[in-house]
Amino acid sequence: MNGAREKWTSKVGFVLAAAGSAVGLGNIWRFSYVTGTNGGAAFVIIYLVAIVLIGYPMMVTEVAIGRKSEKNPVGAFKALAPNTPWWLVGALGVFSGFVILSFYSVVAGWSVAYIFKAIAGFIPDTDFAGVFVGHITSTGAPIIWHAIFMVLTAGIIAAGVVKGIQRWVKILMPVLFILLIILVLRALTLPGAGEGIAFYLAPRFGDVTAGTLLAAIGQAFFTLSLGMGAMITYGSYLSNQENIADNGGWVVGLDTAIAIVAGFAIFPAVFAFGFDPAAGPGLVFITLPAVFAEMPAGSLFGFIFFVLLSVAALTSAISLLEVVVAWLVDEKDWPRVKAAVSMGIVIFVIGLPTTLGFGVWGDVRIIGMEILDFYDFLASELALPIGGALTAIFAGHVWKARTVVDETNSPPGAIKIGNWYGVLIKYVIPIAVFLVLLFTLIDFLG
Ligand code: PHE
Repeated sequence: MNGAREKWTSKVGFVLAAAGSAVGLGNIWRFSYVTGTNGGAAFVIIYLVAIVLIGYPMMVTEVAIGRKSEKNPVGAFKALAPNTPWWLVGALGVFSGFVILSFYSVVAGWSVAYIFKAIAGFIPDTDFAGVFVGHITSTGAPIIWHAIFMVLTAGIIAAGVVKGIQRWVKILMPVLFILLIILVLRALTLPGAGEGIAFYLAPRFGDVTAGTLLAAIGQAFFTLSLGMGAMITYGSYLSNQENIADNGGWVVGLDTAIAIVAGFAIFPAVFAFGFDPAAGPGLVFITLPAVFAEMPAGSLFGFIFFVLLSVAALTSAISLLEVVVAWLVDEKDWPRVKAAVSMGIVIFVIGLPTTLGFGVWGDVRIIGMEILDFYDFLASELALPIGGALTAIFAGHVWKARTVVDETNSPPGAIKIGNWYGVLIKYVIPIAVFLVLLFTLIDFLG
């Protein structure tokens, strides 16, 4: 691309776009089932520690790398450390973009399908688990919704992200938040809600394993769109007039608040309706419809909820595709439209095994996991933490912590990154992530 790089056009443009990337299926669908399968409150506390000690510092680091280099992840490492192999970290990020978007689009497709199930009506005493399993094990419908979702994602990216995303997230994010609060109030007043709140708030640290720690770190990276260069890419469109420490704080704060609030909507309801919180990836698609079925005008709320969940997923999917497209546009001189359309098709195809894995390929296991679980594990628990730890080492030791601090504090804002940053980015983050990966590997092999 010739000339000056495209920049977010309004002052809040970056925060809204980055929050749009961060707030997605990870906050509602993934957060609730990972919390459920990892024992609840103890997981939530470790996740919050990971957000503060790893998530926020990594957020400002990635944005700073992007803004300074004005490049996609591969180009960014090349620009800041020419003639070194560090660009491979960016390449790992682009790879993660392919893998995450391929299954993300399948799950987003479920959400779109549920918009129409809501229109048909959520009726009390329905076997919602049966409805969900019936949907995901079928062959045609999930593939069609996956395709439609990819067409929307690629279409927006092909048209250029800035204006479309900014306008949409500005309207939809606050509405999603308000709807979640309505759901929380409803869920908290259900008979039997207390047990769910206890599960969510009363930690049993005895249940914590290396696997729990890795799940919390993986979730922190996933929900904040970190470790694969999405925030490097969005940071590359950020003007020098914006303070990174403050903007990063807004993005991390909004994302965390929405995840925590979503938990208050979901766990009380799960227990009130006698579901198993460890139900796995189906949790919100089974439980929330059951809650809606009990609410006055519940199908209407369900309709709005799944529209907004789908849109939240869309604003995240866009950022995933943007990483891949920015790489092709910057590094390979591809026209944006060609990159968006062709990569949309490639990612659609890569996603097919994850949906077939619930149906006709139902017996397929990769290292003991269903295909979607394997993709998610590969990306969220391996590629993102490894990419993130390597980015931290790069920022702390190669580009230098001092440089990152100066970049994030310029121009001066309300939050000032201090010396603690260097300790976290140079030592705490890489060592913690690699130790947890090592222990998980030992667990896995032993
Ligand atoms: N943060 C998004 C979510 O929570 C997922 C995502 C991961 C988006 C990585 C971009 C990059 O749903």
